[in-house]
Amino acid sequence: MCGIVGYVGKAEAPQALLQGLKRLEYRGYDSAGMATLNGSGLAVRKAVGRIAELEKLVAEEPIHGQTGICHTRWATHGSVTRENAHPHFDRSGKLALVHNGVIENYLELRAALEIDGHFFKSQTDTEVLAHLIGREFDRLKERSKGRLVEALRAALLQVIGTYGIAFIHEDVPGVIIGARRGSPLVLGIGKEENLLASDAAAMVSHTRDVVYLKDYEIVALDAEGFQITTLQGDGAGYVISQVEFSEKDVSKGDYPHYMLKEIFEQPRTVRDAMRGRLAPEEGTAKLGGLEMSNAELRDVERIVISGCGTALHAGMVGEYMIETLAHIPVECEFASELRYRNLPVPKDTLVFVISQSGETADTLAALRECQRKGHRTLGICNNVGSTIARENDGGVYMHAGPEIGVAATKSFTSQLVVQSLVALLLGRITHLSHSEGLNIIRELEKMPDKVAKVLELNDRIARIAKKYAQSKVMLFMGRQFNYPIALEGALKVKETSYIAASAHPSAELKHGVIALIDESTPSVFIAPRDAVFEKNLSNIEEVKARKGPVIAIGTEGDDRLAQVADDVILVPEAPDFLTPILMVIPLQLLAYHIAVELGRDVDKPRNLAKSVTVE
Ligand code: M6R
Repeated sequence: MCGIVGYVGKAEAPQALLQGLKRLEYRGYDSAGMATLNGSGLAVRKAVGRIAELEKLVAEEPIHGQTGICHTRWATHGSVTRENAHPHFDRSGKLALVHNGVIENYLELRAALEIDGHFFKSQTDTEVLAHLIGREFDRLKERSKGRLVEALRAALLQVIGTYGIAFIHEDVPGVIIGARRGSPLVLGIGKEENLLASDAAAMVSHTRDVVYLKDYEIVALDAEGFQITTLQGDGAGYVISQVEFSEKDVSKGDYPHYMLKEIFEQPRTVRDAMRGRLAPEEGTAKLGGLEMSNAELRDVERIVISGCGTALHAGMVGEYMIETLAHIPVECEFASELRYRNLPVPKDTLVFVISQSGETADTLAALRECQRKGHRTLGICNNVGSTIARENDGGVYMHAGPEIGVAATKSFTSQLVVQSLVALLLGRITHLSHSEGLNIIRELEKMPDKVAKVLELNDRIARIAKKYAQSKVMLFMGRQFNYPIALEGALKVKETSYIAASAHPSAELKHGVIALIDESTPSVFIAPRDAVFEKNLSNIEEVKARKGPVIAIGTEGDDRLAQVADDVILVPEAPDFLTPILMVIPLQLLAYHIAVELGRDVDKPRNLAKSVTVE
């Protein structure tokens, strides 16, 4: 949440900053701002609204300089106003700071600073941090890069909370200082230029050489180089990594929205999630990143899967997959609940956390809580080098490439593929035969082409979306492997269209939900031809008997759904445990087209941010 970028080099900073900031707009988009050092002091521009507003302002009232910082905001403390937009300044007005995170003790710090004669212009926690660093710096006589770092250290030792920050100071031109704790910060190493950002996507036009900073690290950078130290003042070792994706991967290409582009990438991303991980000769999956031997995996008695939002829905499918293929009991839990719940977890429990961004605050906290209790934790992440990916004892990357649309789509199907591989691996260790394992591999190999086939239904789904777009309420129903798909379909519609959508196990209808059914309330049934198909059919009949419109997602070749449902979308056949990968795609497209029909801001829905780094 919130995105920050810093640039120092030979180019004009405002252009580099805006270019980077636009790549981070998914992190928050209620206001934006930038500050540059232009030779005679700080130049500042701030605007309420999208980054386009800031861009317009900078075009109308240009600022210059080769060192600068900028920010796109998702409000936590203080409403959406120009005053609350970042950067914020210290008392002297010479220090400008951008921040992603939450300073929890800001009220106490602010009160103490006020006693000391400080006045504040905003309601933000960030302004308090700027004042704190500025006060420490003003206490020091020498005006140098080293002293700025020293002042930062002294200030951060007083702070409770999370931060990814970047700041500049008029008295020390050509320098940016950054630090992190709990919020991501990546250093980009260029030629005669260096950058700092919340996400590597912001700097791929300049460099693909990056250092993922760790918690409690401080970086000082200028055009020629950088130094990384710890909060305690020691030198810190670092690894330079190469960003896997290119500029092309973070652009929309010919698609009108990132969401549509990412939905259409799924034949590739589903393939990439299993690439190099299928071992037909052994009839199993190879997941070296788990860092666990077969003997250790054999000892696993129980599994807990955790995550938030879409990632949790993927985990719920994983629960069914692992229980079905490996017969290991699985419990799936909201990360926001798990972190505070005193879940009795037996000794040989393995914990999986799932997160596209690898930065979600609740998921990270759940992971840390489980580690504190001595459990081995494994991650299923997309964002390479992210905090969750790094803090886990092992894990599997999704390799889905950057996901920029706020609504998660391709990451979800990658999470399902990865979990099917985990289920296969565990199954083969426990009781699946070689030929059963091989059959599963053959079915997995067919999935990318089947996904491509589902995407051919796009035009038809767009027509169906038009028919139902004005609905006030929508219901989503599914059973077993596809109950979480109903949850995911409802979430997609809620977040992109703002329609009140709710999801239920189909059989729960008659326990209350059925009261909502009338001619204007469509029900979407996920009803593949699986073990519970007949049961789903009966539930559809119950809705039709009450004049409720029904959209059914079923299996190719089926002719019974068409007899009861108003609109039918048929996708290729697959084994029950793989049907969710195919069933979810029509729901992603349905949500997308409804949102477009309603004129919603598909990639940046109101009030949301892609990466939820606050509690
Ligand atoms: O980055 P994560 O996978 O940890 O994010 C978890 C949720 O915040 C995320 O899936 C959210 O629910 C999406 N907006 C859903 O489309």
